[in-house]
Amino acid sequence: MSEPLVDLLSRRIPGQSLDRPFYTDADIYQQDLETIWYREWLFAIPAAQLTKTGAYVQMTIGIYNIVLVRGADGEIRGFHNSCRHRGSVLCKARDGVVAKLVCPYHQWTYDLDGKLMWARDMGPDFDPSKHNLHPVHTRNLAGLIYICLAKDAPDFEEFAKLAHPYLEVHDLSNAKVAYSSSIIENGNWKLVWENNRECYHCAGTHPALCRSFPLDPDVVGVAADGSVPPRLQAHYDRCEAAGAPSQFAMAGYAGQYRLARMPLQENALSYTMDGKAAVTKPLGRVTLPDAGTLLKFHYPTTWNHFLPDHSLTFRVIPIGPMQTEVTTFWLVNKDAVEGVDYDMKRLTEVWIATNDEDREIVEGNQWGINSPAYTPGPYSPLQEDGVEQFVDWYVKTMLRNLGPQAVAAE
Ligand code: FES
Ligand code: FE
Repeated sequence: MSEPLVDLLSRRIPGQSLDRPFYTDADIYQQDLETIWYREWLFAIPAAQLTKTGAYVQMTIGIYNIVLVRGADGEIRGFHNSCRHRGSVLCKARDGVVAKLVCPYHQWTYDLDGKLMWARDMGPDFDPSKHNLHPVHTRNLAGLIYICLAKDAPDFEEFAKLAHPYLEVHDLSNAKVAYSSSIIENGNWKLVWENNRECYHCAGTHPALCRSFPLDPDVVGVAADGSVPPRLQAHYDRCEAAGAPSQFAMAGYAGQYRLARMPLQENALSYTMDGKAAVTKPLGRVTLPDAGTLLKFHYPTTWNHFLPDHSLTFRVIPIGPMQTEVTTFWLVNKDAVEGVDYDMKRLTEVWIATNDEDREIVEGNQWGINSPAYTPGPYSPLQEDGVEQFVDWYVKTMLRNLGPQAVAAE
């Protein structure tokens, strides 16, 4: 089944964009789901989205529908949104707050930890403990909820151990969601990522973002070999001396995740039109106002920006071969008051505009690739090593996850 795909993956030419079917073909999209999305750890939500006991939210990944719910013990757990009786969906609403999870069909009732509590007229031999909800692997990493749909999840601890100190100072457990947005981009999920992993397009595309985000690779660029320009190293050192972990770190299979605290433009403190802080009551304990932005990515679902005053999480979910959902959360201190400590427009306008600008160029990229005349083109060695790194991760992870036969062909 995977033979043609393995061949296509194996003859990928480094330094160039992928062949057309990777961005257009329904079978390859299906393989992406099965080989990456149903197996790897995925960022789901910031824990701050579910503040109350019984608060839940649904999430769809390919053919799976899951529900994340905060239990009476404060833990957020994930379950397949399918009743253990005859399989009805349990939670029909996108989100809400419930005392128990009650199936709308015959009212089987589950506790918030997934245990079946009540099922009517099932006879004396019925054992409720054998009919608890099917769980989904769930982890809370310093206020970021990750899930894994695989029966046996890959290791999460290596990533958690590396990322926790970087994230912990941003105190996401004491955050609230100030704003969220979900947009649909008519492009393959890999095009969304490729666009994210370079700023070659930024000067021509993102006037609002460029007020605060620096473009010079000599300022913010880390070379493919991991070497760091002196000015950037000085920034890391200054932030670390102030107690904020900042050094560039990339790890995981084929560089699945990366963390680094990057400077913003000189005099810019946050992603606002005037570069000043967006929130006066900061989220976290990063005491240097000009610490810039902690950039984190974790393939295949998330990139993030953690600033001294607020944090942003981005989530990528494929919804079709040429359609991707991008969800953004703006997180602020839970005690910050809108209109007093922050103005919603000031807080959100730069990334609302930037997301929409990225949507438009991703859609243009897809549109051009849809033509049979498209052929893979070369990456800029100065500007697009991040794209190359992503594509390399994708190809290697697909080959590894497709099995020994595929790895032998690698
Ligand atoms: Fe859920 Fe029957 S299908 S109670
Ligand atoms: Fe962009």
